[in-house]
Amino acid sequence: MIRRAKSADLRPIVQEARVRDKLSNLPPLPSFLGQVAPTGRAEVTVRLLTTDDIDRLEQTHERTRTMMPKGVVAHDDRAFLLERIRHGVALGYLSGEEIIAYGLLGLPDQPGGELGRLIADASLHTRPVGELDGVGVLPEWQGNGLHFEMLAWRIRAATTLGRRDALATVSPDNLYSLPNMLRAALAARALVQMPHGAWRYVMHHDGTDRAGQDGVWLPLSDFDAQKDAFAHGARGTALRTTATGPEIFLTNG
Ligand SMILES: CC(C)(COP(=O)(O)OP(=O)(O)OC[C@H]1O[C@@H](n2cnc3c(N)ncnc32)[C@H](O)[C@@H]1OP(=O)(O)O)[C@@H](O)C(=O)NCCC(=O)NCCS
Repeated sequence: MIRRAKSADLRPIVQEARVRDKLSNLPPLPSFLGQVAPTGRAEVTVRLLTTDDIDRLEQTHERTRTMMPKGVVAHDDRAFLLERIRHGVALGYLSGEEIIAYGLLGLPDQPGGELGRLIADASLHTRPVGELDGVGVLPEWQGNGLHFEMLAWRIRAATTLGRRDALATVSPDNLYSLPNMLRAALAARALVQMPHGAWRYVMHHDGTDRAGQDGVWLPLSDFDAQKDAFAHGARGTALRTTATGPEIFLTNG
């Protein structure tokens, strides 16, 4: 008698095929070309992180999160980091056993993901997206442009995995991360208060370059004016420093 496989029996096979498909579609990994290295010598390996790296990843996440002022970077728990390793993509730079930099890419099943729904653009709510959600560079390795490099690689990875739209969040107070995101052509499209009370820009990369469009500079601290502009489709595309504080350039959409 032929025994039919129950759908639960097939799950590991389907899962394995998905992982194989995912890995074969990723762009080539970046190489480490940095100048800044604490020992003066930079022997760095770039690879995808696996579940065996989870303790190291938690340590690097905690060190990079807690060096920033309170509330600027959210705490990602072990379950979240494991989910990104298993179902998303986790890019890691290692010096010896230590993860000196990491960047995560989430691949939500649901169109638009959770972040897409925060943007006033219904077309985005129906498209598959990649989520650039988790990054850190250890202080002694900062200044090598690794954040920008990991943004660019993850955006390419999302695209090759069929997700042309990439989304991220960043605190308006994170003046290290926000400029890198804008330089990587992620535009601010919403300013929202998260359940834990902190404010975040929702950033969106849709593969288009809107540089040079008409727009207006607004103080980064003027949340009401920005929220109103985002509700009408504006995009934040650049930052500048003025005598009265940082300002964001909002295009007309
Ligand atoms: C955001 C982050 C990944 C950027 O690191 P990076 O890729 O090394 O940054 P860059 O190479 O763009 O650095 C540009 C300059 O800012 C400095 N810099 C970067 N991050 C810094 C930080 N957290 N504190 C102080 N200076 C910092 C660099 O040393 C460099 O200085 P230089 O121009 O004098 O050489 C890093 O600040 C970090 O890990 N922050 C904590 C986690 C975080 O903010 N995650 C993002 C959540 S959205």
